[in-house]
Amino acid sequence: MTAADRIERLRQEIRRHEELYYVHAQPEIADVEFDALMNELRVLEAEHPELVTPDSPTQRVGGRPAEGFVTVVHAVPMLSLDNSYDEGDLRAFDERVRKGLGGASTPSYVCELKIDGLSISLTYDHGKLVRGATRGDGVRGEDVTFNVRTIRAIPLTLKHGPTGRVEIRGEVYFPRKAFERLNAEREEQEEPLFANPRNAAAGTMRTLDPTQVSKRGLSAWLYQVVRVRDDAGAEAPALRTEAPALRTHAPVREGTDRRDFSPGDMATHTAMLRALKEWGCPVEPHWHEVDGIDDVLAFCETWREKRHSLPFETDGVVVKLNDLALRDRLGTTSKFPRWATAFKYPAQQATTLLKQIEVNIGRTGAATPYAVLEPVQVAGSTISLATLHNPEDLARKDIREGDTVIVEKAGDVIPRVVGPVLAKRPHHSRPWVMPTHCPVCHSRLHKAEDEVVWRCENSSCPARLMRSLDHFVSRGAMNIEGLGEVLIRQLVEKGLVKDAADIYHLTAETLEDLERMGKKSAAKLMGQIERSKANEVWRLLNALGIRHVGERGAQVLADHFGSVEAIEAAPVEELQEVHEVGPVMAASVRSWFDEPRNRRLVERLREAGVRTVGERKSTPRGPQPLAGKSFVITGTLDSMSREDAAARLEALGGKVTGSVSRKTSYLIVGAEPGSKLEKARALGVPTLEEAEFLGLIMGES
Ligand code: IVH
Repeated sequence: MTAADRIERLRQEIRRHEELYYVHAQPEIADVEFDALMNELRVLEAEHPELVTPDSPTQRVGGRPAEGFVTVVHAVPMLSLDNSYDEGDLRAFDERVRKGLGGASTPSYVCELKIDGLSISLTYDHGKLVRGATRGDGVRGEDVTFNVRTIRAIPLTLKHGPTGRVEIRGEVYFPRKAFERLNAEREEQEEPLFANPRNAAAGTMRTLDPTQVSKRGLSAWLYQVVRVRDDAGAEAPALRTEAPALRTHAPVREGTDRRDFSPGDMATHTAMLRALKEWGCPVEPHWHEVDGIDDVLAFCETWREKRHSLPFETDGVVVKLNDLALRDRLGTTSKFPRWATAFKYPAQQATTLLKQIEVNIGRTGAATPYAVLEPVQVAGSTISLATLHNPEDLARKDIREGDTVIVEKAGDVIPRVVGPVLAKRPHHSRPWVMPTHCPVCHSRLHKAEDEVVWRCENSSCPARLMRSLDHFVSRGAMNIEGLGEVLIRQLVEKGLVKDAADIYHLTAETLEDLERMGKKSAAKLMGQIERSKANEVWRLLNALGIRHVGERGAQVLADHFGSVEAIEAAPVEELQEVHEVGPVMAASVRSWFDEPRNRRLVERLREAGVRTVGERKSTPRGPQPLAGKSFVITGTLDSMSREDAAARLEALGGKVTGSVSRKTSYLIVGAEPGSKLEKARALGVPTLEEAEFLGLIMGES
């Protein structure tokens, strides 16, 4: 079998497993086996870069956009939905529908779960994903193709899909687990938490670094086919409502398994959902076709509690008229279709007494207020603490100690205080004021002008020290079992540990003297400490608590540089060149090592016998014939998007930047080039036409 055959075989196999996993929720192989297939494909493609195609499963993470987001205009506006909050609203919706249709028969509706995510528009051309865009204001959204491609639930290629162009809409969302993991990581990094999965999805889609996006674990459910443009490339006429253009005929192209549509193919929403599934798109499986509003109400009732057991967040049910021709008859208002409504469950709230507002000091000194509550049950769990975000938010809501407050489980994860019940406010109450000093070390709190966070800047503040030690010994870092919060507190309070390196100077005798420590547990802990000295280098790197460097970042850095010393010596440009390391992480690493105090800590750890040197492991990469060359792309390329072009250049070792300078090796010129061409000419930077560029990446020159 030739390499090309094997590559094609692997791609088909991988696509099949992706579909089994995301579309049918019936994986046939374990994750490790899947990873092995992906690895084999990666290695083969690295050996044969000329065989890499944009729709290969390895090509989900491409280059990052050089110039931010591009605005796109939706061919058919992305409307929103009218809301219903109770039985009365739903019955009124049904009345309007029946009246609009002449009142005769009982309409058939489709009930779908309302996904708490971000709506997305995907365009496929001849079955290939060519564009992903956000809803934006409904008329204009943003081109987020490079991020959408990283979402593994979204097929890069449709199976037996339509010829010509088709737009598919749906929802990008965070599975509960991925959302929790993301917030846990942010908490660890002392970055503000996302209040709910929807905000997290929206924030992630606006990230300019697809590598970051690919790591976050977003997923998608698709629920609508919007329009089909015929194969000749002519745009379907502007449509009054969404979806009727499905009936456009397109010629069948020979040699493909793509089909045209006949009007009968998709006369209903249920046919649309079935077609989507057949094309390999993820369709949320719990939709239900019902006759009449009573069954709609029953569906909503069924899911009121059951929804909490789903692996993703739903905040309601979307009710849609099934028959597409009837939808056309009802039409839309300027904001939403008359044929659908979104039923929303009430938020999970409760009221309770806010006993006290306290301030927590984190590892980086961030001072965040939190509420100590009279314990109360919300959505099946007891809440006794809740975040209050920042002092400004607190002041705006005028939340005071002694207030009866409404608490809510936002995204069912982090409880938060919504606001006070003013009618129940005690007479003597006073507005809460942020303390001016750290509650632990009593040094003054500071706030940078462009930040909302107040910080304790005393780097030897015991609270900061305790938090950073907690992190140092944690499971994803040095993994020192038996050194918990209580022990750390004692060690810090007794002045026995002033930084992480001191842990390695503890003796069994000192440990035995601590509360709740016997001879046996002291010896055990000493063993754990000793063992941790030989940890892999990435653990130490994570343990140091450098902002923006989590477990994964530490692994990537350790693999690339092989030792803490090499990282310490690396200029920011070199750090940034590491695959998966972005400018923010690079800058943060550099500034951490620029701090003499931090360098001293590393030195003391090394002297204590902690391993700082490991092995360099390079990720499989193909030949890098373009290493050292830098490129700028201008205008539109016929053969691929600018992002894909950038990804191809980067895969071959080239660097792609956003603006032309004397250092630019080549300017790649597509159709309708911008001012960059003039600049390149003025600076004498050589230019490449598209054909020459293709020759370059195919290895012809
Ligand atoms: S249908 C004409 N179906 O809810 C609008 N929307 O509140 C077509 N959403 O913007 C949307 N789950 O982002 C539809 N199963 C579902 C949905 C859903 C979530 C979102 C969508 C929409 C918003 C409106």
